[in-house]
Formats: sequence, structure tokens, C-alpha cells
Amino acid sequence: MSGGGRFYSGFLPFLALAGALSALGGCGDNTSAPTAKAAPLDARLSEVYSRTCFGCHTTPDSGAPQTHNVAVWAPRLKQGDDVLLTHMAEGFGGMPPLGQCAECSAEDLLALMHFMAGPAAHESDPKDAEK
Ligand code: HEC
Repeated sequence: MSGGGRFYSGFLPFLALAGALSALGGCGDNTSAPTAKAAPLDARLSEVYSRTCFGCHTTPDSGAPQTHNVAVWAPRLKQGDDVLLTHMAEGFGGMPPLGQCAECSAEDLLALMHFMAGPAAHESDPKDAEK
């Protein structure tokens, strides 16, 4: 009856904290993956996207994998972010260095890439809960 109480008193606050954190996650179980496939762009990256990537990645004749064409992107994504980032930074075939986005950071490029490689974002989320 003696040693155990001490042990648990250290544990309970931790459990309470873990519970509070998981409560923040809300209803969806899988919403916590930060590198999810469907990645909407914030206002700044949307502007960058329409100024740069958009021109080729929505024009099939450019030879670029087209935005939201998930099947075309899948084999490219298999190369892994490191390789893809190198290709984006240095250029790759018809892909110009940095995708013509001189101010883009590595994070920006990856966000743009995952946006293009993911399925089209839906206007409203509720139905997405099913999949
Ligand atoms: C001037 C046209 C052009 C622009 C602008 C452009 N791309 Fe590309 N991109 C291409 C082409 C063409 C390919 C296919 C290259 C190949 O496979 O030979 C490509 C391929 C890619 C790939 C796949 C590379 C791989 O390893 O398979 C990524 C990722 C990518 N582009 C990201 C971007 C991003 C992000 C932007 C905007 C910041 C951008 N691109 C802007 C033409 C463009």
C-alpha cells in the first residue's frame, strides 16, 4: 500500500494531459496527419501557385503532371519528398528550377506539390468524412 501511490500520482497528470490533447483532435480519427494528401493552399501559396506552377501543371501540352490527377502523380510521389524536392529546386526535364517560384522555400514547394498531387479539394467538407 505504500510505494504504489507515489507512482500513480506521477502518472495521472500525464494521462489528463494526453486526454486533453487528444480531445483537441476533435471528431475525426485520422485528421492529425500533417502531410495528408489533399492539401489546400493558404492565400499566399494560392497566389504563388496561380502565378507559377499553374501555368504548366494545368496545361497537358507542357508535359507536366497535371494538378489533381492523382494517378499521374502517384509514381512520382513514390520517389519520396527528398528526391522530389531536389527535382523541384534544381529543375527536372521540362520542370524549371524552383518551378519559376524564386521566393519559394522548400516547405512552400512541398506544400504546392502535395496540393497538386492530391485530389481536388471539395467546397464543403462534411461528405469527406465518409472517406
Ligand atoms: C514551365 C513549366 C512548369 C512550371 C512553371 C512548373 N512546373 Fe513542375 N513540372 C513541369 C514539367 C514539364 C514536369 C515533368 C518533368 C518530367 O517528368 O520530365 C514537372 C514536374 C514537376 C514535379 C515532379 C518531379 C518529379 O520528380 O517527378 C513536381 C514535384 C513539380 N513539377 C512541382 C512544381 C511546382 C511546385 C511548381 C510551382 C512552384 C512547378 N512545378 C512549376 C513543368 C513546370
